[in-house]
Amino acid sequence: EHVAVQIFSDNKEGSRYVAQQIADLIREKEKKGQHCVLGLATGSSPQNVYAELVRMHQQEGLSFRHVITFNLDEYYPIEPDALQSFHRYMWERLFKHVDILPENVHIPDGTVPKDKIKAYCQQYEEEIEKAGGIDLQLLGIGHNGHIGFNEPGSNINSRTRLIALDQATRIANSYEFAHIAEVPRLAITMGISTILKARRIILIAWGQHKAAIIRKAVEGHSTEQVPASLLQQHPDCTFVLDEQAASEL
Ligand code: GLP
Repeated sequence: EHVAVQIFSDNKEGSRYVAQQIADLIREKEKKGQHCVLGLATGSSPQNVYAELVRMHQQEGLSFRHVITFNLDEYYPIEPDALQSFHRYMWERLFKHVDILPENVHIPDGTVPKDKIKAYCQQYEEEIEKAGGIDLQLLGIGHNGHIGFNEPGSNINSRTRLIALDQATRIANSYEFAHIAEVPRLAITMGISTILKARRIILIAWGQHKAAIIRKAVEGHSTEQVPASLLQQHPDCTFVLDEQAASEL
Protein backbone atom coordinates (compact mmCIF):
# COMPACT_ATOMS: atom_id res chain seq x y z
CA GLU A 1 0.00 0.00 0.00
CA HIS A 2 1.04 3.58 -0.44
CA VAL A 3 -0.51 7.00 -0.07
CA ALA A 4 -1.84 9.01 -3.01
CA VAL A 5 -0.37 12.48 -3.51
CA GLN A 6 -2.10 15.51 -5.01
CA ILE A 7 -0.10 18.68 -5.53
CA PHE A 8 -1.55 22.20 -5.83
CA SER A 9 0.13 25.51 -6.56
CA ASP A 10 -0.52 26.88 -3.08
CA ASN A 11 -2.33 26.46 0.24
CA LYS A 12 -5.41 28.30 -1.08
CA GLU A 13 -5.87 26.01 -4.08
CA GLY A 14 -5.23 22.89 -2.04
CA SER A 15 -7.57 23.99 0.72
CA ARG A 16 -10.32 24.73 -1.77
CA TYR A 17 -9.95 21.22 -3.16
CA VAL A 18 -10.13 19.65 0.31
CA ALA A 19 -13.17 21.72 1.32
CA GLN A 20 -14.88 20.64 -1.90
CA GLN A 21 -14.17 16.98 -1.09
CA ILE A 22 -15.68 17.44 2.36
CA ALA A 23 -18.73 19.28 0.99
CA ASP A 24 -19.30 16.61 -1.66
CA LEU A 25 -19.25 13.91 1.01
CA ILE A 26 -21.63 15.83 3.28
CA ARG A 27 -24.11 16.28 0.41
CA GLU A 28 -23.76 12.73 -0.84
CA LYS A 29 -24.51 11.28 2.59
CA GLU A 30 -27.32 13.74 3.20
CA LYS A 31 -28.96 12.61 -0.03
CA LYS A 32 -28.93 9.07 1.31
CA GLY A 33 -30.43 10.29 4.59
CA GLN A 34 -27.20 9.57 6.47
CA HIS A 35 -25.07 11.56 8.85
CA CYS A 36 -21.60 12.51 7.70
CA VAL A 37 -18.98 11.82 10.35
CA LEU A 38 -15.90 14.01 10.06
CA GLY A 39 -12.64 13.72 11.95
CA LEU A 40 -11.16 17.19 12.26
CA ALA A 41 -7.73 18.68 12.94
CA THR A 42 -6.45 21.99 14.28
CA GLY A 43 -3.17 23.86 13.76
CA SER A 44 -2.36 26.36 11.03
CA SER A 45 -2.74 23.93 8.13
CA PRO A 46 -6.55 23.50 8.05
CA GLN A 47 -7.42 27.18 8.59
CA ASN A 48 -8.22 27.86 4.95
CA VAL A 49 -10.20 24.63 4.66
CA TYR A 50 -12.49 25.80 7.46
CA ALA A 51 -12.73 29.30 5.99
CA GLU A 52 -13.79 27.79 2.67
CA LEU A 53 -16.39 25.54 4.35
CA VAL A 54 -17.83 28.59 6.11
CA ARG A 55 -18.00 30.40 2.77
CA MET A 56 -19.77 27.42 1.22
CA HIS A 57 -22.27 27.43 4.07
CA GLN A 58 -22.94 31.14 3.68
CA GLN A 59 -22.95 31.36 -0.10
CA GLU A 60 -23.85 27.90 -1.36
CA GLY A 61 -26.18 26.64 1.32
CA LEU A 62 -23.88 23.85 2.48
CA SER A 63 -25.58 22.52 5.61
CA PHE A 64 -23.95 20.92 8.64
CA ARG A 65 -27.28 19.82 10.16
CA HIS A 66 -26.43 16.18 9.59
CA VAL A 67 -22.72 16.41 10.28
CA ILE A 68 -21.12 14.82 13.33
CA THR A 69 -17.55 15.81 14.17
CA PHE A 70 -14.76 14.33 16.27
CA ASN A 71 -11.62 16.35 16.81
CA LEU A 72 -8.29 14.61 16.95
CA ASP A 73 -6.81 16.13 20.03
CA GLU A 74 -6.67 18.77 22.76
CA TYR A 75 -4.04 20.03 25.14
CA TYR A 76 -4.17 18.74 28.72
CA PRO A 77 -4.93 20.36 30.97
CA ILE A 78 -6.63 23.34 29.35
CA GLU A 79 -9.87 25.25 29.82
CA PRO A 80 -12.15 25.15 26.77
CA ASP A 81 -12.23 28.94 26.56
CA ALA A 82 -8.45 29.38 26.79
CA LEU A 83 -7.07 31.23 23.76
CA GLN A 84 -4.93 28.26 22.75
CA SER A 85 -7.50 25.51 23.27
CA PHE A 86 -8.51 23.47 20.24
CA HIS A 87 -12.06 23.74 21.52
CA ARG A 88 -11.95 27.48 21.06
CA TYR A 89 -10.16 27.19 17.72
CA MET A 90 -12.92 24.98 16.30
CA TRP A 91 -15.78 27.13 17.51
CA GLU A 92 -14.16 30.37 16.34
CA ARG A 93 -13.09 29.11 12.94
CA LEU A 94 -15.91 26.78 11.97
CA PHE A 95 -18.69 25.73 14.29
CA LYS A 96 -20.10 29.09 15.32
CA HIS A 97 -20.42 30.12 11.66
CA VAL A 98 -22.40 27.06 10.49
CA ASP A 99 -25.59 25.21 11.41
CA ILE A 100 -23.99 22.24 13.15
CA LEU A 101 -25.87 20.98 16.23
CA PRO A 102 -23.72 21.49 19.34
CA GLU A 103 -24.51 17.96 20.51
CA ASN A 104 -22.92 16.64 17.32
CA VAL A 105 -19.57 18.28 18.11
CA HIS A 106 -16.96 16.19 19.95
CA ILE A 107 -13.64 17.63 21.07
CA PRO A 108 -11.49 15.95 23.72
CA ASP A 109 -12.09 17.68 27.05
CA GLY A 110 -8.95 19.18 28.55
CA THR A 111 -10.59 19.54 31.97
CA VAL A 112 -11.34 15.89 32.79
CA PRO A 113 -9.84 14.98 36.20
CA LYS A 114 -6.74 12.87 35.81
CA ASP A 115 -8.20 9.78 37.48
CA LYS A 116 -11.11 9.83 35.02
CA ILE A 117 -9.08 10.23 31.83
CA LYS A 118 -8.83 6.54 31.00
CA ALA A 119 -12.57 6.08 31.15
CA TYR A 120 -13.09 9.34 29.28
CA CYS A 121 -10.82 8.26 26.42
CA GLN A 122 -12.56 4.91 26.15
CA GLN A 123 -15.88 6.73 26.02
CA TYR A 124 -14.55 8.95 23.21
CA GLU A 125 -13.76 5.83 21.18
CA GLU A 126 -17.22 4.44 21.90
CA GLU A 127 -18.87 7.64 20.74
CA ILE A 128 -17.03 7.41 17.43
CA GLU A 129 -18.27 3.86 17.01
CA LYS A 130 -21.82 4.80 18.02
CA ALA A 131 -21.79 7.48 15.31
CA GLY A 132 -20.92 4.76 12.78
CA GLY A 133 -17.19 5.44 12.52
CA ILE A 134 -15.38 8.32 10.84
CA ASP A 135 -16.16 8.77 7.14
CA LEU A 136 -13.38 11.25 6.45
CA GLN A 137 -10.47 12.15 8.70
CA LEU A 138 -8.60 15.40 8.06
CA LEU A 139 -5.00 15.52 9.28
CA GLY A 140 -2.08 17.91 9.48
CA ILE A 141 1.48 16.78 10.14
CA GLY A 142 4.04 17.89 12.71
CA HIS A 143 7.70 18.38 11.82
CA ASN A 144 8.52 15.14 13.62
CA GLY A 145 5.80 13.30 11.68
CA HIS A 146 3.17 13.39 14.40
CA ILE A 147 -0.48 13.07 13.43
CA GLY A 148 -2.96 14.36 15.96
CA PHE A 149 -0.59 14.42 18.92
CA ASN A 150 0.71 10.91 18.26
CA GLU A 151 4.39 11.58 18.73
CA PRO A 152 7.12 9.34 17.25
CA GLY A 153 7.04 5.92 18.90
CA SER A 154 3.25 5.86 19.15
CA ASN A 155 2.01 2.31 18.71
CA ILE A 156 0.08 1.45 15.57
CA ASN A 157 -2.57 -0.10 17.83
CA SER A 158 -2.89 2.98 20.04
CA ARG A 159 -6.32 4.38 20.86
CA THR A 160 -7.45 7.68 22.33
CA ARG A 161 -5.24 8.42 25.32
CA LEU A 162 -3.20 10.90 27.32
CA ILE A 163 0.24 11.51 25.79
CA ALA A 164 3.34 13.51 26.76
CA LEU A 165 4.24 16.10 24.13
CA ASP A 166 7.74 16.07 22.65
CA GLN A 167 9.75 19.12 23.57
CA ALA A 168 10.03 19.89 19.82
CA THR A 169 6.23 19.95 19.56
CA ARG A 170 5.96 22.26 22.57
CA ILE A 171 8.48 24.61 20.97
CA ALA A 172 6.71 24.47 17.58
CA ASN A 173 3.41 25.39 19.24
CA SER A 174 4.84 27.93 21.68
CA TYR A 175 4.06 30.86 19.36
CA GLU A 176 0.48 30.65 20.61
CA PHE A 177 1.54 31.03 24.23
CA ALA A 178 3.20 33.87 26.13
CA HIS A 179 6.06 31.64 27.20
CA ILE A 180 7.29 28.09 26.49
CA ALA A 181 6.68 27.20 30.15
CA GLU A 182 2.98 27.79 29.56
CA VAL A 183 2.69 25.20 26.77
CA PRO A 184 0.98 22.16 28.31
CA ARG A 185 3.17 19.08 28.67
CA LEU A 186 0.35 16.67 27.95
CA ALA A 187 -2.46 16.21 25.47
CA ILE A 188 -5.39 13.92 24.82
CA THR A 189 -5.20 12.48 21.31
CA MET A 190 -6.97 9.91 19.19
CA GLY A 191 -4.60 6.98 18.65
CA ILE A 192 -3.00 5.76 15.43
CA SER A 193 -5.47 2.90 15.23
CA THR A 194 -8.36 5.32 15.83
CA ILE A 195 -7.14 7.34 12.85
CA LEU A 196 -6.50 4.31 10.64
CA LYS A 197 -10.08 3.13 11.21
CA ALA A 198 -11.44 6.16 9.34
CA ARG A 199 -12.82 5.09 5.97
CA ARG A 200 -10.95 7.83 4.17
CA ILE A 201 -8.05 10.07 5.21
CA ILE A 202 -6.78 13.38 3.81
CA LEU A 203 -3.50 14.76 5.17
CA ILE A 204 -2.66 18.35 4.27
CA ALA A 205 0.71 20.11 4.39
CA TRP A 206 1.83 23.48 3.08
CA GLY A 207 5.22 25.13 2.86
CA GLN A 208 8.89 24.32 2.46
CA HIS A 209 9.27 23.57 6.19
CA LYS A 210 7.12 20.45 5.76
CA ALA A 211 9.01 19.10 2.71
CA ALA A 212 11.49 16.89 4.58
CA ILE A 213 8.90 15.19 6.79
CA ILE A 214 6.53 14.76 3.84
CA ARG A 215 9.28 12.93 1.99
CA LYS A 216 9.83 10.60 4.96
CA ALA A 217 6.10 9.98 5.39
CA VAL A 218 5.46 9.26 1.72
CA GLU A 219 8.65 7.57 0.55
CA GLY A 220 10.27 6.27 3.74
CA HIS A 221 9.62 3.00 5.53
CA SER A 222 6.29 2.73 7.29
CA THR A 223 7.50 3.03 10.87
CA GLU A 224 6.22 4.08 14.28
CA GLN A 225 9.22 6.45 14.40
CA VAL A 226 7.41 8.54 11.74
CA PRO A 227 3.73 8.28 12.69
CA ALA A 228 2.48 9.78 9.41
CA SER A 229 4.31 7.03 7.48
CA LEU A 230 1.89 4.54 9.07
CA LEU A 231 -0.77 6.07 6.81
CA GLN A 232 0.84 4.07 3.99
CA GLN A 233 -1.01 1.12 5.50
CA HIS A 234 -4.41 2.73 4.94
CA PRO A 235 -6.31 1.78 1.77
CA ASP A 236 -7.68 5.28 1.04
CA CYS A 237 -5.28 8.00 2.14
CA THR A 238 -4.39 11.08 0.11
CA PHE A 239 -1.73 13.67 0.90
CA VAL A 240 -2.82 17.07 -0.41
CA LEU A 241 0.25 19.30 -0.72
CA ASP A 242 1.38 22.58 -2.14
CA GLU A 243 4.39 22.61 -4.44
CA GLN A 244 6.72 23.57 -1.63
CA ALA A 245 5.70 20.77 0.71
CA ALA A 246 6.02 18.37 -2.24
CA SER A 247 9.40 19.73 -3.34
CA GLU A 248 11.45 16.83 -1.96
CA LEU A 249 9.34 14.07 -3.45
C1 GLP B 1 -0.34 20.17 16.12
C2 GLP B 1 -1.61 19.39 16.09
C3 GLP B 1 -1.67 18.52 14.88
C4 GLP B 1 -1.19 19.35 13.71
C5 GLP B 1 0.28 19.66 13.82
C6 GLP B 1 0.82 20.57 12.76
O1 GLP B 1 0.00 20.75 17.24
N1 GLP B 1 -1.93 18.63 17.27
O2 GLP B 1 -2.98 18.01 14.71
O3 GLP B 1 -1.41 18.64 12.53
O4 GLP B 1 0.59 20.13 15.11
O5 GLP B 1 0.46 21.89 12.96
P1 GLP B 1 0.44 22.99 11.83
O6 GLP B 1 -0.69 22.69 10.94
O7 GLP B 1 0.26 24.29 12.58
O8 GLP B 1 1.76 22.91 11.14
